[in-house]
Amino acid sequence: MIHYQDRWAVVTGASSGLGRGLAARLAERGMSLVLTGRNEARLEEAALEIRFAAPRVKVETVAADLATQSGVSALIDHVGDRPIEVLVNNAGFGSYGAFAEADPDREDEEIAVDVSAVVTLARAFLPGMIERRSGGILNIASTISFQPAPYQAVYGASKAFVLSFSQALWAEARAAGVAVTALCPGPTRTGFVDALRADVAHTAIYSRLAEPGPVIEAGLRGLDKGRAVVIPGLRNWLVAQTARFTPREWMTLITARLLGAGKKVGRPSIVVRNEILIPAPAERLWDLLTDVESWPSWYRACRWVHVESTDSAGRVTSFRWKAHPVELFSTVVASNRPHTFTINAKGLGVFAARKFTFRPAADGLSTVVVSDETQVGPLPWFGRAFVARRLHASNQTMFEDLARAAGREVATQATPAAA
Ligand SMILES: NC(=O)c1ccc[n+]([C@@H]2O[C@H](COP(=O)([O-])OP(=O)(O)OC[C@H]3O[C@@H](n4cnc5c(N)ncnc54)[C@H](OP(=O)(O)O)[C@@H]3O)[C@@H](O)[C@H]2O)c1
Repeated sequence: MIHYQDRWAVVTGASSGLGRGLAARLAERGMSLVLTGRNEARLEEAALEIRFAAPRVKVETVAADLATQSGVSALIDHVGDRPIEVLVNNAGFGSYGAFAEADPDREDEEIAVDVSAVVTLARAFLPGMIERRSGGILNIASTISFQPAPYQAVYGASKAFVLSFSQALWAEARAAGVAVTALCPGPTRTGFVDALRADVAHTAIYSRLAEPGPVIEAGLRGLDKGRAVVIPGLRNWLVAQTARFTPREWMTLITARLLGAGKKVGRPSIVVRNEILIPAPAERLWDLLTDVESWPSWYRACRWVHVESTDSAGRVTSFRWKAHPVELFSTVVASNRPHTFTINAKGLGVFAARKFTFRPAADGLSTVVVSDETQVGPLPWFGRAFVARRLHASNQTMFEDLARAAGREVATQATPAAA
């Protein structure tokens, strides 16, 4: 059982992101706080904000580097004899890149903050909680805890340690009514990605970031309920469960792709070509293709994107077009009426580019419409083969709709898919 009102909490990494938010929520519950971080100015700013929002609570700050033993000791000394009801072991950072090329000092620092400080602070405050039969520790692990993390080898192993350590303490402390919870967020919009000191936007893992608010709420809810592990967000939960039931080596190789995909961006994962001959002029098919409102297929479920079109005389017109299914967010479009148009889309770590070409057929009356679609993403080969078949089939459905919309039955299917 945790008593929040008028008790003390220690929050590490309170100068930014999750730690700052967690500290503010604990103050709302009436807790006085000892906040720590290295950046004194940001730490003071966080403290000021909390004092303003919750004037009744006391807020103290300790600027300390938890990568050093002296920094950790300074925090413990500052707390002194006062009973700590809640410890939030949140301070931490990650690194990104091949282990063999990593800066060894930084990796050591990472282990010191993400692992050693967590253990030392738990050792400092857990015995008092158990003695008083009251209190809780919230350790911030990660979804990366559930599988080895190529390109983040040390960070992944550190967070696996935090998860395992927390679960063990949870079992040891629960009989005394003390909660120990590992909060395992997925990629979240905080200072964390900047602190990686690497461009990771191209990776499937870091291309989409969750908002910190729900992560913080989920963590505190889990601590209240005495949960051993909290994984905020359905997607993260599913990924963690997949890791449990997938052979470890497979999971590690999949993670290598998800974290290292950027190295392979230039290599297409899926290439699908659809081609159809429709007895109608290119201008007419262009109009139909860019006005799919009345089409009778699943394609209507796709999202609208805004397209700018330049004709051969250089005139720019614009129209709206339905692009990929809702999970993909179309961003860039180029077009040249009535010859080609291209749509690029991005989402869930997938990069897709699709080019439509309208070519007059030899009979002078018909048009060959070609769709070339390329998707680069983290899927393993069996997933790519499956998606390629599905893409080809749905593109063909779309072309048949196009032919019907032109008032014709499908004339000829030209070349089948290449995947
Ligand atoms: N955001 C994510 O995607 C994500 C996902 C899973 C897990 N996590 C974990 O969540 C925790 C909080 O990170 P965040 O997302 O809130 O990132 P953040 O905004 O970068 O905050 C990290 C905090 O840790 C502190 N810190 C870092 N190194 C320190 C050191 N040597 N000594 C003392 N304090 C140090 C920073 O303080 P100073 O800068 O003032 O030193 C800062 O307050 C971390 O343990 C991280 O591993 C984050």
